[in-house]
Amino acid sequence: MSDLKQDRRGFIGLTFGAVAAVGGVFALVGMKKSWDPLPSVRAAGVTTVDLSPIKEGELYQTQWRKKPIFVLKKTADMPKNDARDVVVGDARYTLCIGLCTHLGCIPSYKPSTQQFICACHGGIFDASGLNVFGPPPRPMDIPPFKIDGTKLVLGEEGPEYQALKQKA
Ligand code: FES
Repeated sequence: MSDLKQDRRGFIGLTFGAVAAVGGVFALVGMKKSWDPLPSVRAAGVTTVDLSPIKEGELYQTQWRKKPIFVLKKTADMPKNDARDVVVGDARYTLCIGLCTHLGCIPSYKPSTQQFICACHGGIFDASGLNVFGPPPRPMDIPPFKIDGTKLVLGEEGPEYQALKQKA
């Protein structure tokens, strides 16, 4: 084989190698992009709740990332819970993911007893979302939140959420 042919083969081999390597890098970048959540998905994972229309003793229900969310504006006669209450101005709110911590049923709020009752196995949570009876092993979970004026932004971790997490 002449030197010229060998050089050409070597050049073609190198070229294919380089193209394959560049293609591989692009493929990896593409895979990484599909693993990472897109910014718009993250933005869509935020739920904003305007607290101002909620009356004392009223339970407001919404959803965050397809999970039920309870926001209960506490009345003056409800026990305060500094480790769980979301305090906005003079008002205190119970904020929790409305899923029973036993097997995930959605408890319903009973204003007359100021309790959340889980019909599945009789679990009971108090007005702060603490488990007080039955099989639920722990309080209802508090979703990450941030306070923005009179609004709760669910899905973002503000200093108030961090402070509650420290006390939990
Ligand atoms: S799921 Fe609520 S008590 Fe079992």
